[in-house]
Amino acid sequence: MAMVNARHPAWRATAEQAAALRATTIAALFAADSSRAERLSVSAAGLVFDYSKQLVTTAALDRLAALAEAAGLRGRIEAMFHGERINSTENRPVLHVALRAPAGEVIEVDGRNVVPEVHAVLGRMAAFARDIRSGTWRGATGKPIRAVVNIGIGGSDLGPAMAFEALRFHADRGIEFRFVSNVDGTDFAEAVLDLDPRETLFIVSSKTFTTVETMTNARTARDWILAAMDGDTAAVARHFVAVSTNAAEVARFGIDTAAMFGFWDWVGGRYSLGSAIGLSTMIALGPDAFQELLGGFRAIDEHFRTAPLLENIPALHGLLTVFNTSLLGHSTTAVLPYDQYLKRFPAYLQQLTMESNGKRVRLDGTPVDCPTGPVVWGEPGTNGQHSFYQLLHQGTVVVPCDFIGCLRPLNALGNHHAILMANMIAQAEALAFGKPAEAVAAEGVTADLVPHRTFPGNRPSNTILVDQLTPRALGSLIALYEHSVFTQGVVWGINSFDPWGVELGKVLAQRIVPELESATEPNLAHDASTNALIRRVRAARRGPGGITGS
Ligand code: F6P
Repeated sequence: MAMVNARHPAWRATAEQAAALRATTIAALFAADSSRAERLSVSAAGLVFDYSKQLVTTAALDRLAALAEAAGLRGRIEAMFHGERINSTENRPVLHVALRAPAGEVIEVDGRNVVPEVHAVLGRMAAFARDIRSGTWRGATGKPIRAVVNIGIGGSDLGPAMAFEALRFHADRGIEFRFVSNVDGTDFAEAVLDLDPRETLFIVSSKTFTTVETMTNARTARDWILAAMDGDTAAVARHFVAVSTNAAEVARFGIDTAAMFGFWDWVGGRYSLGSAIGLSTMIALGPDAFQELLGGFRAIDEHFRTAPLLENIPALHGLLTVFNTSLLGHSTTAVLPYDQYLKRFPAYLQQLTMESNGKRVRLDGTPVDCPTGPVVWGEPGTNGQHSFYQLLHQGTVVVPCDFIGCLRPLNALGNHHAILMANMIAQAEALAFGKPAEAVAAEGVTADLVPHRTFPGNRPSNTILVDQLTPRALGSLIALYEHSVFTQGVVWGINSFDPWGVELGKVLAQRIVPELESATEPNLAHDASTNALIRRVRAARRGPGGITGS
């Protein structure tokens, strides 16, 4: 398989472009080319992607496309869509695209077409969602379900929680949706505080069904249900369903596998919203709208697979991320949705992008020789403007930004939308073009204040537009980022699909739990700082007001 590194001619040619661009500005690029805005934007699958405010030229884009070709992007895309085991460190295919494949398509894993299985689960999910929404499914006391609580963490939480917020406008308002992820008991306690157990359904979502946080919350949920049902264990079946790849663990927990919605090890947690992990989303929206969500994913899947690289939104987005991160040295990127419903989208993208591309060795185990996955963060506009945008405009680090906006609002109140869009457009303009010292001085600002009121500009951004925040638009937006991450990973030569970096902390925590809970003083063998922290927590737990103290 082709792998490029910083010594590869294609990489060096791209680096030369980056070096040359450091001597110019985004403003100069616009001044030199009246067609830039039009040329450097693409519309496809319901998305508009305007990347004209990136510090990039046609020559640099051509080099980036050549770099992608040299890294074998085309072949890697085909390998993914054909179910090859491209997640080599876990020996698994990467087939989230199969979750949204049309019924007639054939995608084989080990000679077996997985598409019929995908649609069979979608069919079971749809029947269940309809039963919950119509009140046909009853709790153990005969009451219909009025609250659905998804228990999961990481990809088994962020996708459903983000999608519910994003698509809340389209949701059944007669059912309350809650999301419990943190092992902090506060998360569960607050989520169920005002809920009636007799009307509550828990969806225990965990690919492995062994994740400590999820299983701890699930056990607490079971106790909460049983406490309200006089300990009647038969009640569990009416108030719990599971979403998992691990039938044995689901059964061991006490959920009948008939009430389990399965998925497959070729779906990574952070890529799983289109699988049964999206069950809460389907209950909220209804099966038809969930199909629209999948349709949005699929439209971008097809676009990614077929469009030429320089007309390909995810590929362009990914290549620009490589350019900004590895060649221009910008180590963070902000996602700034100008739509309140997308308030959890940055958090969702943090897992998608950072768990995927926060890697320091390549597929062959050798260290990478350039910065890889940027730190992704963000908040909805306009709130961020009154918080961290100061740094974006005048700080010493350059943070490439993704502005995301909807052309038509779902809640068309007064002139809110005009103000919202004006702000989004203005921020991208201000970041790119700034305000030079001469312009500040010309306004009569005193000389001592001119430096403080000058905006350097030359700060790159993308603007991504959808018509309206529909299920389909959300699917397309997510797929754009999924395939951008894929593109980046291929160019860097890393495995975007394993999550080994989360293991060590988990293992150490398992060792520390008994040390915190032990009735006798444990023999601590950590470093001095860790030992001291454990002793502090033990002392507080056992002291007055502590959990085990009197
Ligand atoms: O954080 C590591 C991770 O494995 C994620 O990749 C995953 O989304 C999350 O934990 C939850 O895992 P599971 O769905 O198996 O509970």
